[in-house]
Amino acid sequence: MPSQRVLFGITGGIAAYKVCNVVSALAKEGIEVRVILTDSAQAFVSPLTFATLSRHPAYVDRTFWDASNDRPLHIELGEWADLFVIAPLTANTLAKLTYGLADNLLTNTVLASICPVLLAPAMNTDMWEQRSTQRNWRELLIDPRYHSADPSAGILACDRVGTGRMAEPEELLVQIRSLLHTKGKRDLAGKRVLISAGGTREHFDPVRFIGNPSTGKMGVAIAQAALHRGAQVTLVHAPINSHLLAPLRNVRLVPVMSSAEMQQAMKDHLSVADYIVMSAAVGDVRSDLYSDTKLPKNQLPTSLDLVSIPDIVAELSTLKKPHQTLVGFAAQTGDYVTPAIDKLKRKNLDAIVANPVDQPNSGFGSDTNQAVLIDRSGRQLTLPTCSKLELAHQLFDFLQA
Ligand code: C5P
Repeated sequence: MPSQRVLFGITGGIAAYKVCNVVSALAKEGIEVRVILTDSAQAFVSPLTFATLSRHPAYVDRTFWDASNDRPLHIELGEWADLFVIAPLTANTLAKLTYGLADNLLTNTVLASICPVLLAPAMNTDMWEQRSTQRNWRELLIDPRYHSADPSAGILACDRVGTGRMAEPEELLVQIRSLLHTKGKRDLAGKRVLISAGGTREHFDPVRFIGNPSTGKMGVAIAQAALHRGAQVTLVHAPINSHLLAPLRNVRLVPVMSSAEMQQAMKDHLSVADYIVMSAAVGDVRSDLYSDTKLPKNQLPTSLDLVSIPDIVAELSTLKKPHQTLVGFAAQTGDYVTPAIDKLKRKNLDAIVANPVDQPNSGFGSDTNQAVLIDRSGRQLTLPTCSKLELAHQLFDFLQA
């Protein structure tokens, strides 16, 4: 992997303490990190904190004005960065960026760089909702160089409850990894992506069901990758842990339980989608029996008659238009490529992700995965173990190649 260089700009907000975790996580992954602090940022976190976490001295205005470098520091840092992350972003620095002001090392470096910039505003709700702040924010984001990590609503350090909370460190990390992959390109802008995720549950009474171990992590990663590439995303999901869904604030979520509900939801949203990625682990069978009330233990049957479930993705392939790209997943054990090619043909898909679920660090519940991507022309791409987000980006690269 080529070296990846992330420059952080820390401005004066209490959320600066959360950015320590982001810097630390990236440095541990081997990503090169440099940090610039404004004067007011240093009232919250010390340069030594970031120097220690990033394994490199942090930069402050003193190092800028007193610099004895051969070349000006803002030019050096601006050329060095693959990605600039400004977190937390105060209303003051936001206003400066909007108007192109350059009165400290951070703002000079923004002007002296051309890499993508990820902005994570954090401020009191009234400050965020001021007309001036909102106007600046909209104005700044017109420039495609800038990417937003929108603030969320919640309890703020000023004891107010409202919008202005900085995006959580985990969300920032995912967006940073996406931007390092895409280099800021929004190649899915104007496209709609429909994704299914999670394991369906086929209940035979309100508390008992036939299910599978899918956690929905792969589908969530595909939704994040599509979103970060500029797509409008709809995620039809079987029950998924709420902490996985929390960062998907700009994704349309359609919760379902059973395969029948998923089938209906996918058909409802199919017509406007450009890409349909069926990553859900849909059940293959359900019980013939169904009780609206919980069956007492002594009335539970000793065996169940099973009914097979219609194949959703195969049905979608008969309904889709030629310009729509339909992708399936094949979770397999043992030889995973041959059966996947067979499924691609049988279900008439445009592409399939052959996914070994019996390998370490791969498949259900894991944060990493491995796969062979196959399309209908026979093109194949083998992906060694990588994060599910990286696999999702590789899939979109593959589909658009
Ligand atoms: O045949 P198999 O279940 O292995 O196929 C996996 C692919 O088919 C996945 O994309 C899955 O979401 C989809 N599928 C479906 N409806 C089913 C079963 C699987 O759409 N009833």
